[in-house]
Amino acid sequence: MRKKKTAQETLAIATRIVMPNETNTLGNLMGGWLLNWMDINAAIAAHRHCRRVVVTASVNNVSFNRPIRLGDIVTIESKVSRSFNSSMEVYSDVWVEDHITGKQIKSNESIYTFVAVDQNTGPIEVPELVPETELEKERYDGALRRKQLALILAGRMKPSEATELKLLFLGKE
Ligand SMILES: CC(C)(COP(=O)(O)OP(=O)(O)OC[C@H]1O[C@@H](n2cnc3c(N)ncnc32)[C@H](O)[C@@H]1OP(=O)(O)O)[C@@H](O)C(=O)NCCC(=O)NCCS
Repeated sequence: MRKKKTAQETLAIATRIVMPNETNTLGNLMGGWLLNWMDINAAIAAHRHCRRVVVTASVNNVSFNRPIRLGDIVTIESKVSRSFNSSMEVYSDVWVEDHITGKQIKSNESIYTFVAVDQNTGPIEVPELVPETELEKERYDGALRRKQLALILAGRMKPSEATELKLLFLGKE
C-alpha cells in the first residue's frame, strides 16, 4: 500500500532579512530573489514529503501583491498541497513582519510543482498527501485542475483531455 503523509508533516519555514544587494533601485526586494527563496523552501517541503531528490518541474503561479522593503523580515511557509504519482504541488505563503508591532502581513503566494527522481533522473512514486485543515483541503481540491493547466501550457496534455479543468469552465456537460 502507498505510504501517506499529512500536509503538516511537509511544512518548511524559512526566515530572511532583505539585504541591500537583493533590492532594486527603488529599495524593494527583486522578484528573482523571492522566486529563488520560494523554490528552495518549496523543494524542502517536497523533499520532506517523499525523502527523495526532487526537481522543479514548473512554476504554476506567483503573485507579488505588495512590495517588500530593504530590511524587512520575510517568512516563507511551504507545504505540499497534493501529490500525484511522482509529482507534488507545493504552496508557499510569504509573510512580511512589521518592525514595530511584529505583526505578519501576507505579501505573496506561489505554487510550484516538483517531481521526485531516482539516480538516473527518472520519476519515482511518492507517498499520498493527506490534507487536514480547511485550507489544505481547498488547495488539495484545486490541484488536479492546476496540474492539467500546467501540462497544457507545457504542451504535455491536449485541452480535450483536461476533464476537471473543463468542468470548471463549462460545468457538467
Ligand atoms: C520534470 C521531469 C523530471 C519530468 O520527467 P519526464 O521524463 O518528462 O516524466 P513524465 O512525463 O513521466 O512526468 C513525470 C511527472 O512530472 C509531471 N510533469 C512533467 N512536466 C510538468 C509540468 N510542466 N508541470 C507540471 N507537472 C509536470 C507529470 O505530470 C508527471 O506527474 P505524475 O507522475 O505525478 O503524474 C523532467 O522533465 C526534468 O528532469 N526536467 C528538468 C527539471 C529541472 O532540472 N529543474 C530545474 C530547472 S533549472
